[in-house]
Parts: sequence; structure tokens; C-alpha cells
Amino acid sequence: MNVMAAEKKDLDHIETASRDELQALQLSRLKKSLSHCYQNVPHYRKTFDAAGVHPADLKALTDLSNFPLLSKQDLRENYPFGMFAVPREEVVRIHASSGTTGKPTVVGYTRADIDVWAGVMARSIRAAGGRKGDIVHVAFGYGLFTGGLGAHYGAEKLGCTVVPMGGGQGAKQAQLIQDFKPDIIMVTPSYMLALVEEFVRQGIDPADTSLRIAMHGAEPWSNKMRGEIERVFDLDALDLYGLSEVIGPGVAQECIETKDGPTIWEDHFYPEIINPETGEVVPDGEVGELVFTSLTKQAMPIVRYRTRDLTRLLPGTARTMRRIEKITGRNDDMMIIRGVNVFPSQIEELVLQDERLSPHYLLEIMKDGPLDALTVKVETRPVFHEAGQDAHSACAAHLVEVVKEFVGVTVNVELVAPLAIPRSMGKAQRVVDKRG
Ligand code: DLL
Repeated sequence: MNVMAAEKKDLDHIETASRDELQALQLSRLKKSLSHCYQNVPHYRKTFDAAGVHPADLKALTDLSNFPLLSKQDLRENYPFGMFAVPREEVVRIHASSGTTGKPTVVGYTRADIDVWAGVMARSIRAAGGRKGDIVHVAFGYGLFTGGLGAHYGAEKLGCTVVPMGGGQGAKQAQLIQDFKPDIIMVTPSYMLALVEEFVRQGIDPADTSLRIAMHGAEPWSNKMRGEIERVFDLDALDLYGLSEVIGPGVAQECIETKDGPTIWEDHFYPEIINPETGEVVPDGEVGELVFTSLTKQAMPIVRYRTRDLTRLLPGTARTMRRIEKITGRNDDMMIIRGVNVFPSQIEELVLQDERLSPHYLLEIMKDGPLDALTVKVETRPVFHEAGQDAHSACAAHLVEVVKEFVGVTVNVELVAPLAIPRSMGKAQRVVDKRG
């Protein structure tokens, strides 16, 4: 590890307060937030009434499970501003999540919400090992996506020097990293890997840059991917989690001293894990779908929002707040191949175990008669690319074998040349559905 953990005196008091103090704060904030929702958002009034619950019924944190869940569909049905709990004039910022189909999901922030967001992002950067005075290169996209501006405001709040680079323009990214010598980069893990090639093209060893810390998020990335990035860049790579509906990046952040999954900033975002089929809350430690209730948001408070992200809640280590296990997939990403549930991250882990293969891969789902067939397209590493057809066939056969053994499904493997797979500039699209 190159980086030191923050000292206790530098942290927000609540980060290391007792669980009792944290829970008392959560309960009082939750009561207020539920009333705010019920009084100001017709959707909540309607769904709470239909479920026969009222904010006054909440006496303990566990009573939250009696309240109705909120889905992305509910947000879409209230497009664009129907979920706002304050007059539109008090909303100082709008963001929207991309959404591959249909209308985007719109989120809004009051000035106080922006302050809370900057606060949790500043806390996240500090937890990752960042300090006042550090130079932060932000390569998350700016615009409707929450990544760029979320990271930006947090870094400024911590007292960092921000380089608002945004996504894309790889050659310029590499050049500015050389010239400005940033300490921290914030970028999607897939784009970080695309930057490796830019450095190499410019004759620079990525391990020689000034970067000490990388904060990665906005898409799933395996621990194997972390290992790859840390090795190639010689830095610490930490997991940053968030989603626009909850606030943006900064909902949870991995701490440098433990690197054991993101700590949820539970004084602002209350987590539950549910069984995605039944909607029932499951105990801490069990895997299920992550659900969030905002505790302090004004413009667009959320109650029991279903993230679709699959993980489990773990006890706090570096902080009082609980952690989530690194998110390895979303409900929506799950492929069902010949009856077997497959997540892209499972394939990624296996690809990255093989030194002959690069971390650039694509999964294509096709029809094979009545069944679905999965082809794993993966680039060879440049040195192995020269090894010849027989070596490539043996390598492909090996990947087929390990996927069968560890994931339980037979896939086709197609090795392709370095740079054959399109690079992402933000969130990578790992799965291409060719079923028509
Ligand atoms: O991706 C916010 C963000 C920006 C987070 C930059 C971190 C860094 P959305 O576009 O609304 O917001 O997408 C949210 O991305 O539900 C997860 O499925 C996925 N995701 C975000 N962070 C992680 C992560 C931003 N660290 C959706 N690991 C979420 C795995 C992540 N998946």
C-alpha cells in the first residue's frame, strides 16, 4: 500500500461514533424524511395509504420494512419532476441516468442536497486516502451523468485541485496526467484500462505516473480487475459506489486501510437487503438486492428504492458504518444460459486469471436452436498474440474448461487480436444481445 489511512481526528465525528449513536441519528432522520415524502409527494401518499402505513407508525428502524418498495418504473411513471418534494424553483440541479431504453430517470437537488453530496464525496475521497491539496483528475463523464460533477464538487470540498477532464480524448488524458502530475484519478475501471494503451502509445510506462490512488465505480469490476489495474499503474485502486436515484457517486466508498468493500455512508443512506423475488428483508450477511432509503435528501427523497444491485451487508471495519460486499452484478445483467445464471463478472474473473489474455472482453448472446448460446470474445495480450494458432486454440480450450468448471455452463471462446474490442469511454457494455 502506498497510501496512509486518515487519522481519526480528520474524520467526520459520525464515521467512528458508536452504533447506538448512529442508529439514533438514523431513526430521527428517517422519521423526518418519511413525513417529508408523505406530505409532499403524491406517489408516496398514495402507496403508503394503499399499504396501510403512515410515517407516524415508524417507531424503530426495522419498521421501515412495512413501507412499500420503490422501483425504477415508479420513477419513470412520474417523469420528469413528479417525484420532487420541493417546489421546482428550489431545485438547483437536475441529473438523469442514461437508461438504455425508454425515458431517462430524472433526479433533482436543492442547494442543501448538493452540499450533502459534496460532503459524502469529500468523505469518500478521504477514505480512499486523498487529502487536501491533492490534485484530482476527474475522468468520469460530466453532464447529465452524475459521475463527473459529483466527483468534482467532492474534491473541491475536500480542498483538492480538480482537473475536470471528463471522459474521452485518451491522448489528452495521458498528456495531462504526465504534465499536471495528479495524485488521484477518478474514472470507470474499463476506461482506466483503455488509458493504459494511450500511455503505451506515448512511450510512457503507466507505473511511472504520479498517480497514487484510483477511485473506480459506475460499473461492476472484479477484484481480479483491481489487481490488474494496481499492478499496471502501481497505485491503490478503491471501489466507489453510487447511483443517481440515491444521490450519485459517494453513497459508499471503500477505505484504503482495509480495502474490504465499500463503507455505506449510513448517516445519509439507509440500506436494506431484500430477497428480489419476495421483497422480504433478509438478515445482514445474506446476499440479495440492495435497497436504499435517503435520510437527508430534500428535493428527491427516496423510500426503499430497489437498486437491482446484488450484494450483502457486512459489519463495519474501518468505520462504524456497515459495508457492502463488492458488487459483482445487477439483476438486469444476469444472463440465463441453458438454465444457468451467469454474471459477466464471473467470466471476467476467469479471463483475468489467464496471463495470456487481456482484460478486454465482450459477451455475445446468440440463439442456438431453441437455446441461448454465449460467446466470450477476448483479446489476447500483445506478446501472446504472436504465439500462433495452436497456442491460441489451447488457450481458448482452457478458458472453455474453466468456465464450465466454475460457472457451470459451456461457452464458445473466440480469441481476438489486441485492440479488436471497442473501448468504452464511460460505463463499458460487456454484453451484446444478438438474439434478435
Ligand atoms: O454510476 C454513479 C457513479 C458514478 C458511481 C461514478 C460511481 C462512480 P448511475 O449511472 O445511476 O450512477 O448508475 C448506477 O451503476 O446501480 C450499479 O449497478 C452501477 N455501479 C455504480 N458504482 C458501482 C460500483 C452512477 N462501484 C449503477 N461497482 C448502480 C459496481 C456500480 N457497480
